[in-house]
Amino acid sequence: MYAYTVKAKGTEDTIGMCELSLVDRINGTATLCRIYVDKAHRGKGIAEGMIKQILKFGFEDLKLRRIDLRVYAFNTPAIKCYEKLGFVKEGNIRQFTKFEDEYWDVLVYSMLADEWMRLVGTFN
Ligand SMILES: CC(C)(COP(=O)(O)OP(=O)(O)OC[C@H]1O[C@@H](n2cnc3c(N)ncnc32)[C@H](O)[C@@H]1OP(=O)(O)O)[C@@H](O)C(=O)NCCC(=O)NCCS
Repeated sequence: MYAYTVKAKGTEDTIGMCELSLVDRINGTATLCRIYVDKAHRGKGIAEGMIKQILKFGFEDLKLRRIDLRVYAFNTPAIKCYEKLGFVKEGNIRQFTKFEDEYWDVLVYSMLADEWMRLVGTFN
């Protein structure tokens, strides 16, 4: 598991984090998870910046071939963020998580190494 954190300027306070887990060096795969930005610091590009850093590490340093993630279907801010970054939707695991008397759908997104390499050239 590899973690990436963002600290508030000039402090040791963590305001953003994400993790690359389930790293499988044989298949060249990993899962991005525990993505969180402190409420007071949202909407400033922190998630976008830290996810790009961990994707760069995964694809360019670890030489992974595929990084995926799961997100609840109702989580519009996160979905927009992943789609902006170029993640491709693979499918919907319907009614995957039970919460009280509801069942929540979970979407699976992924990015492949060649997609990352193409995207890197488009980042400013
Ligand atoms: C999802 C989350 C990580 C986004 O963090 P953030 O730092 O605010 O996101 P950014 O500022 O980097 O935004 C990047 C893009 O995401 C999308 N986005 C972010 N917040 C959004 C919102 N509230 N509504 C719509 N789109 C949003 C936008 O496309 C945005 O790009 P833009 O500003 O150029 O339009 C943050 O809202 C969060 O921590 N949520 C709670 C935890 C969570 O749901 N984690 C994901 C679990 S799968």
